[in-house]
Amino acid sequence: MKHLNRRNFLRFAGASGALLLTELTPLNLLQSVYAQKSKEINLTGSLTAIDLGNGKPFTAWTYNGQIPGPEIRVKEGERLHIVLKNNLPEETTVHWHGLPVPNSMDGVPYVTQKPVQPGGTFVYDFEASVPGTYMYHSHAHYQLDRGLYGALIVEPKNEEKGYDREYVLLLEDWASIDGGGPEASKRGRIQPGMGMMGMMRRSAGGPLQEPLYDAYTINGRVFEASPPLKVKKGDKVKLRIVNPSSSTIYTLRIAGHPVTITHADGRPVLPATVDAVRIGMGERYDVELIANNPGRWHIYNLRDNSPVSGWLLGTLLYDGIQSQTYNDDNITQGYRISDYSFLEGIDERYIKPVTSVDKVFRMNLSGGMMSPYWTINGRAYPDSDDLSVKRGDRVRLEYFNMSMMAHPMHLHGHFFEVVGTGRVTGVRIKKDTLIIPPHMGRGAVEFIADNPGVWFHHCHNLYHMEAGMANLVKIISKK
Ligand code: C2O
Ligand code: CU
Repeated sequence: MKHLNRRNFLRFAGASGALLLTELTPLNLLQSVYAQKSKEINLTGSLTAIDLGNGKPFTAWTYNGQIPGPEIRVKEGERLHIVLKNNLPEETTVHWHGLPVPNSMDGVPYVTQKPVQPGGTFVYDFEASVPGTYMYHSHAHYQLDRGLYGALIVEPKNEEKGYDREYVLLLEDWASIDGGGPEASKRGRIQPGMGMMGMMRRSAGGPLQEPLYDAYTINGRVFEASPPLKVKKGDKVKLRIVNPSSSTIYTLRIAGHPVTITHADGRPVLPATVDAVRIGMGERYDVELIANNPGRWHIYNLRDNSPVSGWLLGTLLYDGIQSQTYNDDNITQGYRISDYSFLEGIDERYIKPVTSVDKVFRMNLSGGMMSPYWTINGRAYPDSDDLSVKRGDRVRLEYFNMSMMAHPMHLHGHFFEVVGTGRVTGVRIKKDTLIIPPHMGRGAVEFIADNPGVWFHHCHNLYHMEAGMANLVKIISKK
């Protein structure tokens, strides 16, 4: 289409009669310019004294002095103009986890951009093109585990809110000494059961292993200090559950209440009601809770299907409840814990379905035994093999987990379909992070390589990623 500059436009409008003049007055033009104006956000990374509420203040690394960083919330189609200022002692970048952005805005140091040096700034500018629950976090070194994360919410353009209240819950694991995690690891805490192996790994001067965490928070507060989620009897409550933890998979339970999963990693699914939500590092689930059981209830991590061994995380509190005593969780038969295999996707216009496959990559995930490295097909990034595809290729990634830990594998720049889901309707769920279970666990995903560039693909256990469990998906434009 030929571009109309202002002068040509006026001449054109003048010649074309009253209809055009009323539709395209300069005022209307002005408004459309305003509509495209971006939302300005400043993110400043700095060292900040933080208290998670457990009486052990320490120096965390924060965005804008707070844990979590400020919530970024926009409407679908809005542009974000985010000025990152680095007042940290290390180089840094920000990654917009889950949201497909142009490659140069993706925030992976030395892959999509030069990292921002201490004292420097960088402007991220992109359109929030797909609605959903996302997060942003530092993608440099171990900074995510020091506190550099926040929620990124893209609301649908034409939203009729089908709920009465909404809460965003960011779950985070902490070693509450300075640094939040990596410093604890450096100081030589040994994972239970690691014995001599743990000692060997550190003396080798290689990558860090995950620290022993001593605090688990929702929105930066431990259980004792966390403000209750308030609800009123009869409310339909939307919870956006986000896991930016570096090394913790949660099985989140809200006592007294089943929840209905509506979105997985921001993508809509057929409603699935469960008693607890299993959520790996990098994953997000939107769930709905019907407030029909007044009381004071624990929000906790359910381990081994037993509330007795769980960690307390927070409180759900009904208006008008005075008693300080918590209600007993009242499940008698087994808990229904969410599992990909029973989730069904929903077709949506943002993402084309994958109908067949052009390229298959098999990846063995291993590590944790005789070396400090975590590998894909025996190699640690940057020595791992690239996955090279052409733009538009339909790609299948098959994982085989030879290790004893779960690996939430995350692909940048794309949503993928999870193979093996959508058994009833045939519509598979779309996600961007998939937990591959330990001990010979398998998983497979398929995606259309339609976002050109070099994209990072890795385990979202930060300590595994930094120890090599990563590779590059190179999408080359056809010509
Ligand atoms: Cu959450 Cu490579 O990122
Ligand atoms: Cu891993």
